[in-house]
Amino acid sequence: MGAIAIEPIREAYIEGFHQALDTVSRERRYLAFLEAPPLESTREFVRDNITNGHPQFVAVSDGRVVGWCDIRRHEREVHAHRGTLGMGILPEFRDRGLGRRLITVTIDAARAIGLRRIELDVHADNVRAKALYEKVGFVLEGVAREAVLIDGRFIDLIKMAMLLR
Ligand SMILES: CC(C)(COP(=O)(O)OP(=O)(O)OC[C@H]1O[C@@H](n2cnc3c(N)ncnc32)[C@H](O)[C@@H]1OP(=O)(O)O)[C@@H](O)C(=O)NCCC(=O)NCCS
Repeated sequence: MGAIAIEPIREAYIEGFHQALDTVSRERRYLAFLEAPPLESTREFVRDNITNGHPQFVAVSDGRVVGWCDIRRHEREVHAHRGTLGMGILPEFRDRGLGRRLITVTIDAARAIGLRRIELDVHADNVRAKALYEKVGFVLEGVAREAVLIDGRFIDLIKMAMLLR
């Protein structure tokens, strides 16, 4: 496998991002989707990120999108210092430091646009994601008990956040 680049999302990566999102969603374990939203709404999501400067980066291997990380700034004026983070990596590209690279670049971009607080939700049984988030500075803020239901199983949702000072 060649070097994997971390790049800001752009129009040419939208379909690849959509495919990666769909693959990880269909694992039915990690995300709040069980399949990707339709391509057109994914396109709108990405275009909105690009137009409004919400940080979104993709990991690209041989031209293929193999992971992503985005931080969406909240809309209301009183919450606009906050952003919500989401990320995912294709199964065969996990556990080799890519998540750490992606999240670090995306947090740096959030800092650069003046965000003060980054939030995320992670399923309580997602040990690997929680470990990554703690390593880069997220702390536990709460637990939404049984907030997720997948395939008949209730899962607690861990609320984490980091402050950028
Ligand atoms: C979660 C995810 C983004 C992490 O990315 P990754 O590339 O697999 O993780 P990395 O290889 O960068 O590992 C990050 C760190 O966590 C550590 N880590 C990984 N699994 C761990 C575990 N079970 N216990 C403790 N630490 C662990 C790694 O050692 C690494 O630390 P280091 O940088 O000090 O060596 C990726 O696995 C993924 O996409 N998973 C499925 C989708 C998902 O969970 N998305 C997030 C939803 S909230």
